[in-house]
Amino acid sequence: MLVEVCNLIKSHASPGGGKPVEILRGLDFEMDAGGTAAILGPSGSGKSTLLNILGALDYGDSGGVRVNGLEPGTLKGRELVDYRRRSVGIVFQMHHLLPQCTVLENVLVPSLADRRQARLNANANAREMLDALGLAHRLDHRPSELSGGERQRVAVARAMAGSPRLLLADEPTGALDRVSATQLADALLELNRVRKVALFVVTHSRELAERMEQVWELVEGKLVRAS
Ligand SMILES: Nc1ncnc2c1ncn2[C@@H]1O[C@H](COP(=O)(O)OP(=O)(O)O)[C@@H](O)[C@H]1O
Ligand SMILES: [Mg+2]
Repeated sequence: MLVEVCNLIKSHASPGGGKPVEILRGLDFEMDAGGTAAILGPSGSGKSTLLNILGALDYGDSGGVRVNGLEPGTLKGRELVDYRRRSVGIVFQMHHLLPQCTVLENVLVPSLADRRQARLNANANAREMLDALGLAHRLDHRPSELSGGERQRVAVARAMAGSPRLLLADEPTGALDRVSATQLADALLELNRVRKVALFVVTHSRELAERMEQVWELVEGKLVRAS
């Protein structure tokens, strides 16, 4: 099992300092290596909270979370850095690319602190990934010179830079037009097919969700299978 979440509970402080609000209420979820899952649910239901916990950007209050044999909530220092690079990759609704860097440089950012040989490998991998995402002719462009769909594909290439086992995507097509959204979905599924990266996609798009093997809905703090 690549992802195992068992009885996960998470509260957020309520604005104004009142009683914390329980967002995830004993949530269970499992996914095999190389699997694909979509999470639907209304705004504010806790989808990003769950994704952030899987991505080690946040942690639960109680319950078990295991990803790629590791417990993200317990990692510190070097282990945490490695987890965020090699176990998971994250793509957000907004691309968060560095505007002053080229496409290739943006994808190489995560490897800047690596040793020389690793950096050479990272360069070759980045070019290969950008090529696979149809961006080989854009390596030296800045984000401002790209379309929204192209920027988001660069963000995917950057998330894939450490060859993670799990790609977490938080409304990755939320800011894209229909055609670009379909292209991004095609690209994600192609990465899943060719590189066996598992996909965990939070989305409002039924169309995107239905291309995943499992479709879940986050309802009252738990995941309910929708298909
Ligand atoms: N860091 C935080 N501090 C306090 N409340 C938060 C925090 N993050 C999210 N929330 C609240 O938790 C709820 C779930 O948020 P979120 O996981 O972002 O939902 P979704 O992604 O499904 O829209 C919302 O009510 C949100 O306002
Ligand atoms: Mg969200």
